[in-house]
Amino acid sequence: MSAETALASLQERAARVLMNTYRRLPVTFVRGQGCWLVDDGGRQYLDLVGGIAVNVLGHSAPAVRAALEQQSAQLVHVSNLYYSEPQVELAERLVRSAFPARVFFCNSGAEANEAAIKIARKWGQRHRGGAYRIVCAVGAFHGRTLATLAATGRYLDTFAPAVDGFAHVPFDDADAVAAAIDDSVVAVMLEPALGEGGIVPMGDDTLRRIRALCDQRDVLLVLDEVQSGMGRTGRWWAHQHAGVTPDVMTVAKGLGGGIPIGAALAAPRADVLEPGDHGSTFGGTPLAATVAVAVLRTIEERGLLDNAERVGARLRDGLLGLRECGLPVETVRGRGLMLAAVLGDDIAPVVVDAGLEQGVVLNATGPRVIRLVPPLTLSADEADEGVRRLATAMELALQRRGDAA
Ligand SMILES: Cc1ncc(COP(=O)(O)O)c(C=O)c1O
Repeated sequence: MSAETALASLQERAARVLMNTYRRLPVTFVRGQGCWLVDDGGRQYLDLVGGIAVNVLGHSAPAVRAALEQQSAQLVHVSNLYYSEPQVELAERLVRSAFPARVFFCNSGAEANEAAIKIARKWGQRHRGGAYRIVCAVGAFHGRTLATLAATGRYLDTFAPAVDGFAHVPFDDADAVAAAIDDSVVAVMLEPALGEGGIVPMGDDTLRRIRALCDQRDVLLVLDEVQSGMGRTGRWWAHQHAGVTPDVMTVAKGLGGGIPIGAALAAPRADVLEPGDHGSTFGGTPLAATVAVAVLRTIEERGLLDNAERVGARLRDGLLGLRECGLPVETVRGRGLMLAAVLGDDIAPVVVDAGLEQGVVLNATGPRVIRLVPPLTLSADEADEGVRRLATAMELALQRRGDAA
């Protein structure tokens, strides 16, 4: 069977049995190794998306495989009605990497944010006379559950009525946050860098001002580090660049290196949940927790925070260099290995398609934004190779646009 026939056949089967929730690119990946993916025809692709900031150690990472093998032979799952050591060790490691806190484990970013929202509401009942509103940012993305959609503030009409209690102010604007905090507000919930919103880092100074505001007005600061965390920006958590700590932090994506696991950390001030308030069947199960411990340990042992910073700088320089070749890169946003090439033309989706043909996996968050969130193991040579392939993809995209005109 030719590669085209195999793809057409799988697409047809998928259309019959999978809900139509994703726009998928025409490729079937069957294997991965490090920063490289292999399709069903044996073709290799440099993966600059990494499962959208998930595969922090790359594909088939030895540490993830070893943890899976060892723990699956011992104990895969046990209910949260009992203790299990890996969950406690994972919480200890997370707290050490972040700030004094206690941890709730779940399975995804949306769930971690649901936990954060419930924490804020319960805290509001206890400390703010039943206030419950949360100030979020325009352009944010916090998940697809009903409450996290309301926090996101988009895609709501289809699923009305929206969960009540979220206000939206411009991103990276401490004055707007100050104006929005009144007696009805219990928390400010933000991404330190917009992820789905196109890789837009918040200014360190803005974040420091918002932290101070939350203290002055006695509301919680909730930071969603689902995409920006786990070392992606060169620090464990993006907010650490600003030298502040949140009251609540949410984590998922890279935490399990590809195995689903999420977490919400609450500082003592915000640590209000009690038995019966919240729970999750699979949250922090021994298998997922063991893998996440291995991911955190490997990031530390292999110096991947430094690597993200160093190789990220090289990738950024390479992308900016494309301007000198006459390619339409207007600017590069982001930090470490959380970068976006902002184009001067509405061709990002066409570049992504052309990239696939050129053996590089890219992602567009909008018509002009190419997002790059590769494994933190990306080497300097791989970064250079990625820039070369991206350049060819851009040339192809421009040609195609010219042909279509
Ligand atoms: C910042 C942020 N928060 C939350 C989520 C939702 O995570 P999940 O898809 O694991 O529910 C995402 C996903 O892209 C995200 O980028």
